[in-house]
Parts: sequence; structure tokens; C-alpha cells
Amino acid sequence: MSVIILGIESSCDDTSASVIRDGVMLSNVIASQAVHEAYGGVVPELASRAHQQNIIPVVAEAVKRAGIDKSELSAIAFTRGPGLLGSLLVGTSFAKGLAASLGIPMIEVNHLQAHVLAHFIKEDATDANQPDFPFLCLLVSGGNSQIILVKSYKDMEVIGQTIDDAAGEAFDKCAKVMGLGYPGGPVVNRLANEGNAKAFTFSKPHIPGYDYSFSGLKTSFLYTLRDRLKEDPDFIEKNKQDLCASLQFTVIEVLMDKLRKAAKALHISEVAVAGGVSANSGLRDAFRDHAAKYGWKIHIPKFAFTTDNAAMVAITGYYKYLDNDFCPMDAAPFSRVTI
Ligand code: KG4
Repeated sequence: MSVIILGIESSCDDTSASVIRDGVMLSNVIASQAVHEAYGGVVPELASRAHQQNIIPVVAEAVKRAGIDKSELSAIAFTRGPGLLGSLLVGTSFAKGLAASLGIPMIEVNHLQAHVLAHFIKEDATDANQPDFPFLCLLVSGGNSQIILVKSYKDMEVIGQTIDDAAGEAFDKCAKVMGLGYPGGPVVNRLANEGNAKAFTFSKPHIPGYDYSFSGLKTSFLYTLRDRLKEDPDFIEKNKQDLCASLQFTVIEVLMDKLRKAAKALHISEVAVAGGVSANSGLRDAFRDHAAKYGWKIHIPKFAFTTDNAAMVAITGYYKYLDNDFCPMDAAPFSRVTI
């Protein structure tokens, strides 16, 4: 008999639902929340309210597009954390109500593990491009920059992580001071494509091991702007392409240096990237360069699976289902939790 999982994701500002049958994605519906754009960042109270408005139509649409009846569902997987508590509560409560009414089990999913397992989403039954274990995954988003040693679907070890800002946060904060709007990462990426990556030099961290730090780079970027704006008030406008290209180049160098070091020390050549920042074209190119230069077998997610989506929750739920790994009905969300 088929295993059909409904995944629900509501950890931040995307309400998403997806149906996966025997590991193959049947639907993945995402409602993003434009309401935050005016505020330059996600406003938690508004995010919770928008999830309340979106959750029923999004789940109904995911079930409809999958061409199934909800009575066919085997289990409901939901993001339990980490994330914004009010946002997580909407998805968790909805999952409980639906699971109870259908008499099926619930599966809790760690959002970070789900980003890693996004590489196992099959868009059709012939899709066989999944990573082999063990592999390294660079997880880079607005809240995380981690190097994860992935030993199996459920056994993951964080071997390096940021000690301050995340890579996406560095992009967003630097973009904000240039007046580029929120989220800044995609805009920096677009402008960087038109600029000179060697035009400016920003300081790089010297942190031992595989950990990252981006706060020094952010400060170095801010000081450059402050000093140059004194000489020319139009400095940002005249140089934004070069500023973005140099910033992006430095962030990618920092990320790849540690990843290369980890791959070499652990003798691993199967390397993946995940999370919102994995949409960055410079980072994708750096992965391709490393594949050519160091013989890495690389795994880069499709754009649809880089940002928050429920297909990654459903696929994680699918593997937990095969393991009989269910959670009790009194499961409450966690705002902070590691892999
Ligand atoms: O994984 P994600 O959607 O959300 C969480 O943080 O959980 O990641 C969002 C982050 C933001 O910081 C955004 O600026 C960044 O991903 N991002 C990018 C690009 N697209 C999204 N950063 C650089 N280049 C991009 N193309």
C-alpha cells in the first residue's frame, strides 16, 4: 500500500503544504507573505495572522493538486521548530486538528533537517539524483550557516556553524544599509552579476575549526560605506554593483574555504548546499567550480526547494514514517532547536 504524507510548513513567513506519495512529490503549494515588505523584515505577529488566513486554502489546494482525497493520507508531518513560535503554532495546531479528525498519526519535523533532506524530494519516480551517505551539506539561510555531516536520513551532525550572524543575514543587513529593500540577498545577487568582485576588499574572519562568523565582514562593509560617503554622498548609488559583487564574493569565499577544509579532512567528496542562500548564483557557480577542481559530486537544489517549502517537510516525514517515528498529540512547537 502507498504511503501518502501531507507536509505542513509554517516556521517563518511562508505557509506551505505538500503531498508526497512513496517519496514522489504530487504537489507543493506555497503562499508567501508580502505584508512584511513594508517593514524591512518579518513581523512575527503579522506572520502568525497571515498563516491563519492561508493555512486552510493552502492545504486544500495541495490535496486537490495531488489528485487525492484526504482520507487517503497516511500521516501528517509538520514543522515543529526552529522558527517563530506564533507561526509554528498555526501549523502545529492545524496538523493536530486534521490528524485527529482523520484518525492518522502526526510526525514532527526539524526545519533544518528538512532543508537537508530537500535533496531527496523526487519530482517523478525516475528521478535518481539523490546524494549518497555520508555527505556534507552547507546549510545557508537567513538564520543559519552550518556545515552538516549527514550520515543517514536521521543521523546528522553539525560540525561547524556561525558564531554570530548567518550568511543570509549578512546579505540582508548590508543590503538594508544600501537601501536595497528586504530580503536583500536576491537583490545583492542581481546587482553583483553586473559588478566587479575585486573592486572592494572586506575583512574575512579568522575562526578556528569549521565555524563561521559574518559580523566582522558586516562591520567592515559598514565602515567602508561610512568612510566613502563622507567623500561622496552618492557613493552607494555610483558603486552599488561593485559593492554587491565584492560583498557576495567575500561571503562565498568564507563559506567555501571552511567547506573545502571539512571535505578534505573527512575525505568526503559528496557535497550538497541547502537553504535560502543556496539560490545565490555565485554560490552555485562556486560549487560547480569545486566539482571540476576537486572532483566533488555536488547537489544543488532546484530554486523551488531552496526557500521554505512543505515538500521538504513531507519528504522528511516520509522517511520518519518508514521508521515508525511518530509524535504524541500533545507535541508543542520549539522556537529554538538544533539538528
Ligand atoms: O531559507 P530561507 O528562505 O529562510 C530562512 O532563513 O529560514 O532563507 C532566506 C535567506 C534570506 O536571508 C535571503 O536574503 C537569502 O536567503 N537569499 C539569498 C538569495 N535568495 C535568498 N541570498 C543571496 N542570494 C540569493 N539569490
